[in-house]
Formats: sequence, structure tokens, C-alpha cells
Amino acid sequence: MGHPAHERRRDSVRVGSAPAPAAARPARPSLASPWADKRAFLAGFLQHPREVGSVIPSSPWMERRLVRTAGLTEARTVVELGPGTGGTTRAFLRAMHADARLLAIELSPEFRDHLAQQQLDPRLVVQCGSAEQVADFLRLHKMPAPDVVISGIPFSTMPAAVADRIAAAVAEVLPPGGRFVAYQLRPHVARFTTPYLGQPSRSLELLNIPPMQVFCWTKGPAGARGPQG
Ligand SMILES: C[S@@+](CC[C@H](N)C(=O)[O-])C[C@H]1O[C@@H](n2cnc3c(N)ncnc32)[C@H](O)[C@@H]1O
Repeated sequence: MGHPAHERRRDSVRVGSAPAPAAARPARPSLASPWADKRAFLAGFLQHPREVGSVIPSSPWMERRLVRTAGLTEARTVVELGPGTGGTTRAFLRAMHADARLLAIELSPEFRDHLAQQQLDPRLVVQCGSAEQVADFLRLHKMPAPDVVISGIPFSTMPAAVADRIAAAVAEVLPPGGRFVAYQLRPHVARFTTPYLGQPSRSLELLNIPPMQVFCWTKGPAGARGPQG
């Protein structure tokens, strides 16, 4: 992959005890306190600042904006890229349908372990690895094309080749009408994704540290385009 961070462990944890049943149970309360989340997040940032990209997790306002923008209540298959310590993951699970499933792909084995310890919900699978491999991970977990992919990974600090591969991989796995929602401090994600998915809609969440731009692409009926220029 050309970047040591993206060569780390790749393994998965089904966070609940069984595959999602037809009428899955709602998300269990988290075993992690907000302070344990914040401490683990800061430790992760200090260890891998370029990959984590932020010193504290997203705010509840940010989480609510993502749920709305992604149309999560309607989705049946959801992919989260970069769940971190799981605040966004818990908010997504709370909003999602009882039959929906969430694949969370996290590069950091430490964050993956932190998430696994929380035993969040049987609808959740946490996969350790890079977002570049989203298609492989969906196949591995026998999940269909996602209705929505939500990403908090920092496109501005990763190698350009990795960012391009992630944008291409997301565009490839989305079905026509599928959404890609990315929240970022800087607009780099748009530079990488627009060649594949066209122009995004944008909004700004001020009640977050730092304030974040939220980009949303909807894949057109013609499917993904190749990079232009
Ligand atoms: C800004 S944090 C977002 C955490 C959480 N979703 C939130 O909003 O609070 C970015 C996360 O992306 C992860 N990450 C960075 N590059 C990644 C990649 N290529 N594949 C998967 N996860 C990645 C980091 O380890 C980190 O957990």
C-alpha cells in the first residue's frame, strides 16, 4: 500500500454474539464511559496523529447531522470508515433499523480493541484494516452493496495515492443511489472523490471541535466514473 500505517493488522470482530437476526435487538448501552472514550481517543491521536486527525471525538451535534445527512433510518447496509472509539458508531446504531447491519472499518488495532470491549450491538461488525479494502471486507462478511458509506478518516493527512484508492473503492462499492458522506476539517476529500462521484452537497457543523464540513455524494444511475484528468 506504500504507507506503513496501512499495512497493519487486518482482522475482524463481530461485536455481538451472533449474526444479526431478523428482528435484531436495539443497541445495548455502551460499557465505555465518555471519559474512557476521550482518553483512548487522545492516546490514539498522540500515537498516530496523521491517521486520527483530531484530538477529541465528534460531538453529539455532529453525530446527529451525520445521521440526517446519511438518511440512516432508511439504510439496511451501512459502512463506517474510521469509527475511532465508537461515539459515531453508537449514534449510527441508535438510528439504524433493527434489521440493518453496520460494518465499521478501523485502521488502528487499539481502537478496534476499544470498540470490541464495548460489546455494542449484534448488528455491528468491526473490521481492522484500511478503508481501501472496503470491497474485500464486504465480501468477507457476506454483506451486500452498502446504501451508505460514512467516513471520518482524514483525507488531508494521508498519502494522496491512499486517498485516491479509498475514493475509488467507495465509488466502486456503492450502488446507484448510494450515498457517501464524509466529514472533514479540510476539503481534500472532495478533490479525491468528485472525479469518481461528481459534485457533493456540503454543509457545515459549527458545534464540533473543530467545526467540520460535511460532504454528501449520491452515486448517479450511470455508476462510478473513472478519475478525470
Ligand atoms: C477523526 S477520527 C474519527 C473517529 C470517530 N468516527 C469520530 O468521528 O469521533 C478518524 C479515524 O479514522 C481512522 N483511519 C484513518 N485512516 C484510516 C483508513 N485508511 N482506514 C480505516 N480507518 C482509518 C483513524 O484511526 C481514526 O479512528
